[in-house]
Order: sequence, then structure tokens, then C-alpha cells
Amino acid sequence: MAARQRLICASGALLDGGAGVRFELDTPSGPRPAFVVRFEGLPRAFLNACAHVPVELDWLEGAFFDADGAYLICATHGATYHPVTGVCVAGPCRGASLQKLPVAEIDGGIWLLDDSG
Ligand code: FES
Repeated sequence: MAARQRLICASGALLDGGAGVRFELDTPSGPRPAFVVRFEGLPRAFLNACAHVPVELDWLEGAFFDADGAYLICATHGATYHPVTGVCVAGPCRGASLQKLPVAEIDGGIWLLDDSG
């Protein structure tokens, strides 16, 4: 299993289909916005960049889900993403995908995992 890279938040901060937690991902080109939500019991994390135009998805901070808590939705033009795969299922970039990030729930916390090898 991949090593823990850093703690994003406590497990209790994420409710299934509820508000997400934003964090920054360190990349060689500098920090990039990212977020984690809980869906079907597990944490799911992605870069916070729409596949249509690379703007952040949440217009209201942490509001990543649609009204039913079933899909992630971009506040700008409504692209709708599957919360497990990150694939756009409806909207202007249908078939494109959010960039998924490796996370896990360990010891009561949500951890970003190191997938660099
Ligand atoms: S920028 Fe996200 S749907 Fe257009």
C-alpha cells in the first residue's frame, strides 16, 4: 500500500454526499487546488479543476455535490461528474475526467497518499 503523505482532515469532517474539504496539492509546478469528499463510505479526492475550463468546481466553498448528493457538479456550467471515477457524465465536457488523487482513511483521518512510487 502507498505511504501516507500528509493528513488532509479528520474523518468526521466528511459526511457521505456532504460538503467537501479543500486542500492544496504540491506539484513540481507549484501548489494546485484539490478537494476530498466522501461517497459510498469512502473518501474520494480530485484536483479542483473542471475538465471543461480548468476553474475550481465549487462556487460556494466545499459545495461539490448536486442537490441529491449523487454527483459532483461544476458550479460554472454544470458539468456533472461521477464521484467514484471522476468521469463527466453530463454537461459540456461529457466523457472527460477530473484528475483523481490517491487518498485513504486511516486512524480517524483522511490522508493523501504518496503514489510517486
Ligand atoms: S467550467 Fe466547469 S462546466 Fe464549464
